[in-house]
Amino acid sequence: MGRHHAEKSRGDSGHSSKYYSEHKSNHDRIKSNRHKDRELKHHKRNKYESDSDSDDSTEKQRRRDLKERDEFADRLKKKDKEKTRNVAQPSGSEKRVYEEAAKRLKLEAEDRSKIIPKLRIESRQKYLKKRTEDKVAELEADIIDDEYLFQEQELTEKEYKEREHKKTLFQLAKEHEKARELEKVQRYHMPDAKKDQADEKYVEVDEREKVPHYEQQKWEEEQMSSAVFRFGARDKAEKNRERGQEYELVLDDEIEFIQALRMPGTRTDREDDDKPKLTETEEKKFSLQETRRSLPIFPFRNDLIQAIKDHQVLIIEGETGSGKTTQIPQYLYEGGFTHNSKKIGCTQPRRVAAMSVAARVAQEMGVKLGNEVGYSIRFEDCTSERTVIKYMTDGTLHREFLSEPDLQSYSVMIIDEAHERTLHTDILFGLVKDITRFRPDLKLLISSATLDAQKFSDFFDEAPIFRIPGI
Ligand SMILES: Nc1ncnc2c1ncn2[C@@H]1O[C@H](COP(=O)(O)OP(=O)(O)OP(=O)(O)O)[C@@H](O)[C@H]1O
Ligand SMILES: [Mg+2]
Repeated sequence: MGRHHAEKSRGDSGHSSKYYSEHKSNHDRIKSNRHKDRELKHHKRNKYESDSDSDDSTEKQRRRDLKERDEFADRLKKKDKEKTRNVAQPSGSEKRVYEEAAKRLKLEAEDRSKIIPKLRIESRQKYLKKRTEDKVAELEADIIDDEYLFQEQELTEKEYKEREHKKTLFQLAKEHEKARELEKVQRYHMPDAKKDQADEKYVEVDEREKVPHYEQQKWEEEQMSSAVFRFGARDKAEKNRERGQEYELVLDDEIEFIQALRMPGTRTDREDDDKPKLTETEEKKFSLQETRRSLPIFPFRNDLIQAIKDHQVLIIEGETGSGKTTQIPQYLYEGGFTHNSKKIGCTQPRRVAAMSVAARVAQEMGVKLGNEVGYSIRFEDCTSERTVIKYMTDGTLHREFLSEPDLQSYSVMIIDEAHERTLHTDILFGLVKDITRFRPDLKLLISSATLDAQKFSDFFDEAPIFRIPGI
């Protein structure tokens, strides 16, 4: 169209200058518009190209970030594993165990090669001893048979000599044996440098004296008996029974004057004596249970369990010392929250708290720390496969997010001491809030000791607040 105008304007050269100039200016405008259009298009195309370029690079960047994140998680897990001491289970990786076993096998083989010649000699000695005994017995049987079967007159000179020889041999063997016995028994030996050899030779004659340190014991008994020497008829019955002499009383009835002479005492716990006595551990357990029952949270046990069953997220508010940390996990355990082989997790802001609370709960439940109740803190893992209540620091839970982003092994997660608002707990709030969205079966409890529970409730989409009244 622009060209058409231009041709027209060239052809109509006789037109007035005004018209021309107007026309020219129109033409210029159109031209410049077209130019702008082209520029715009060019710009757009460029922009589109650069957009797709940047999309590509963003995608690449995202992939790289993900890769780096995974690598970092792996590295961190590996590092943690190396540093963490497992308290509940025997330490050492499989490789180390294998190396140890190999080392032991090697040592055993060496030992065997050293010990075999010695064993051979010992076995030979034993065999020879046995053979001597056998041969002597054989000789004896031979002599008896010989004497029984053949009378003396039937024998030739040679046979007679042979029998005599056999008899002498047997006699000598017997004497030799006796001499050896004599050497063993009742003879004092100078203590040998090789102690075990001397022991081997020494044989106790008296059966009673075989008890170690018998002489010492005998001397002590004598000393004791003279020290506590008693006379009179107080323990006569007992003494007689010991000696095997028990006599019937001549009188049928005893005179009951002892009762009348008794002074009235001040002892009042006579009735308690009749009750079966509790052992120390039972008493301790009993008192622990009493303490548990006396805590302010105890009357609300069932309501609390019901509330946890009804709501996914619950804010628990109670005064310090009301039993939130120690009791709630136990109630949940008793309420069957661990039946599907899942755990109850409870975070603490400090390591010492995690350890001591776990120890206390293990004591209350009467289990060994590390079995049903355990704790996991940085550099130390005191849990096992049986653990159902696990106390840990906030930081440890962060680490667990790396290996288990959906906290699949937990049925309940308690973020305890939320009022302390450490950086870790605040980050945890965000993480666990996300998880509750896609894991409806995970119960989340936020426990706090102060009145700012409303803030937590607001954060967790108006979660209900369970208040434990103070003592
Ligand atoms: N290691 C322990 N030894 C003895 N008693 C303990 C021990 N730990 C806790 N208790 C007792 O158990 C009770 C409840 O303690 P718990 O830690 O559960 O309270 P809490 O409500 O969590 O308090 P806080 O808000 O201070 O954490 C305490 O009053 C205390 O008497
Ligand atoms: Mg607590």
